Formats: sequence, C-alpha cells, structure tokens
Amino acid sequence: MSSDTLEARTPALQTKLPAVGTTIFTVMSALATEKGAVNLGQGFPDFDCDPRLVQSVTDAMAKGLNQYPPMAGIPQLRAAVAGKIEAMYGHSYDPADEVTITAGATQAIITAVLAIVRPGDEVIVLEPCYDSYVPNIELAGGTVVRVPLSPHTFRPDFAKIEAAITPRTRAILVNSPHNPSATVWTAGEMRQLEELLAPTDIFVISDEVYEHMVYDGQEHQSAARFPGLAARAFIVSSFGKTYHVTGWKVGYVAAPRPLTTEFRKVHQFNVFTVNTPVQHGLATYMADPQPYLQLPTFYQRKRDLFREGLKNTRFSILPSEGSYFQCVDIAKVSDLPEEDFCKWLTSEIGVAAIPLSAFYGNGFDQRVVRFCFAKKDETLKTALDRLAKL
Ligand SMILES: Cc1ncc(COP(=O)(O)O)c(C=O)c1O
Repeated sequence: MSSDTLEARTPALQTKLPAVGTTIFTVMSALATEKGAVNLGQGFPDFDCDPRLVQSVTDAMAKGLNQYPPMAGIPQLRAAVAGKIEAMYGHSYDPADEVTITAGATQAIITAVLAIVRPGDEVIVLEPCYDSYVPNIELAGGTVVRVPLSPHTFRPDFAKIEAAITPRTRAILVNSPHNPSATVWTAGEMRQLEELLAPTDIFVISDEVYEHMVYDGQEHQSAARFPGLAARAFIVSSFGKTYHVTGWKVGYVAAPRPLTTEFRKVHQFNVFTVNTPVQHGLATYMADPQPYLQLPTFYQRKRDLFREGLKNTRFSILPSEGSYFQCVDIAKVSDLPEEDFCKWLTSEIGVAAIPLSAFYGNGFDQRVVRFCFAKKDETLKTALDRLAKL
C-alpha cells in the first residue's frame, strides 16, 4: 500500500491536564495590548538589566563558551550560589553535589516534584499559589491537597496545615516572599513549619524566587536558615527575578545530597543542562554581591512610589512586605467579581491587573487584585494617573 491510499490519522488524545487552559495572565496581557493599557498584570520588569551582566554573557559567547556545560551546571556558578547562600543564610551546601543550575525556577519545581512524588502521594499547596504547582503535582500522579492561607492577611494557618497532613503526605510547597500576596513569612512562622514537620518524612519545596526582595529592614527567612527545614528542603531560586532577566530562564536548586542525587536524575533527562554562556556570565557577575544586596532598596523605592500614588485612589492598600507585587482590595471601587473587574479596569481605565481568584483552584473571590510594580517610574506614574480617576 502506498501512503496515498492510507488515511492520515491523528490518534485521539486524552488530556493529562483537563483543568489547564489559557491562563489569566495570557488573557490580561492580550487585552492590555489590544486596549493600549499599562500592563501591571504580568510579573516582569519593563526595564533592562545591568549592561555589565549582558557584557559578561557576551564575553562568554565570544570566548567560545558555547558547548554543553556539565549536567548540574558549571562549577563556578554552583560555587557562587553556595557562597551566597552561606553568606546570607548561614547554611553550607556543597556545590559539587548539593547545588544544581536549572532552566528557571519553573523547571526546578517540576523536577523536584517529579523526583519525589509518586502516584497516590499527597502534596500540600497553600492557596493562593503560583500557577505551575498544581499541574506539576498532577503530572507526577500526585494528589493536590489545597490549604488556604488566611483570607486577606495571607498568613499560614498551621492548624489547617496540620489537619491536612496524612500518612500519604509526601511534600509541601511553600513560597515566601509570596506571589501573589506579597507577604513574607516570619522566622516564627518558619519555625512553626519546622516543628510541625519534625516528626514526619515530608519534603519541603521552598520557592524563594523573590528572596532578594524583602522590605522595611526585614530579612528573608530562607528554609536554609532552619536546620530542620534545610535537611528536607529543595530550595528554589531564580536569577531571572534577581537580575531583571526573566527571559533568560536560569535558576537553581539547593538541597541535601540525597535529595540532589534524585533531583539530578530527573533533571538529566528533562533539560540535561542549562545554556553555557549565561551560566558563565552569571558566575562572573555574581562575584559582586552588590546587585542583589541593593535590590531591596531598589524595589522598595518603587513600591513606596506606587503605594503613595495608590493613596489617591479608592482602593484599600494591602501590605507589600516582599516580592514585586502590590495587592489592593477593590470593594470600595466596584461590585464586580475580581476577574470582571480586571477586564473592565484594563479596557476602560487602561491599567491591567490580575485577579487573585486566578491563584485558587475554586476561583475564591475575596475582592483583591494584584499589581506588579517592577516597572519604570514613568510606567507606574501613568498607571497611577489613570487609577486616580476611579
Ligand atoms: C512564585 C514564583 N515561582 C516561580 C516562578 C518562575 O520563575 P522562573 O521564571 O525562574 O521560572 C515565578 C515567576 O513568576 C513565581 O512568581
């Protein structure tokens, strides 16, 4: 039979992720573009990174550092990461077998999940949560156990977390500084988690991508600071967030040796490794700690500019302790549900925001929306002028 006589047939596909569709981020960004709105929805800077960082990467390429690097990342970058963690959080990771360079935090998280979660395992997520966590757990065959953070304050409720733990609980995903609420876990809260997990075999995946954006003189409470957490944690961070290069998609995972061993088995066969010149560029650039040490000052000024302007609106301003997000309560401004309000705000007022309901599995609506202030001052001012008309 020749192929002309065969019916070309695409096999029927049963989706593994029936709940996943177009995300609200895509919808709001498309609407923002269509309406010419200022996009304070999606979380990325509209300004460029330090030219010295671009130069470092360019130099690496020009030097011919363009072939496969070691699977776990180049030793210089792993050493720089371990050195930073030790200096900031006082925990020593061996760069040889406890630090792995990843294709951003997103790949780090799914790799950690795939390394530890088996069908039937339960994994606790604290809602509202970053949108990749739930599909990652589902792809691993795990069962998602959703525990809400306290409405409006977004503090962890340890009684609820404790009640959600069963003999099948394999892991808990935590995220501080938190997207979307901009809360930062206190040392006391981290200790409570440490105590709660102490008698268990539960792993922690600690998403710390905003670790260098903590304000008002507070310190980031990395899981690395707490021995009982560090011993069971995959600590995830993102150079994209820290160095204003979200499009480069490079991050890392620090975890004790046995955890890293399993992590790397999965990493080796999903990305194998991460692009070489960017790793060299980052390693060179990281020799100077100032860019990340100055990040709180840099972003706190933007946060304060934005919050000051929001005082001229009828929004109720929620705390922003860390990350580059600012949430507001819309109750005094509108009766619309969060998502409709965000669409209306984008179309009619010309400012895009993200409804917090998008970060809950059941679409819980508490009349709160999220703005991103990682924007040029003029972008923020244009947005504030428009919001003041509300
Ligand atoms: C909480 C959180 N985790 C992970 C990520 C993903 O980071 P990356 O771009 O390095 O994959 C983001 C990005 O928005 C985030 O907000």
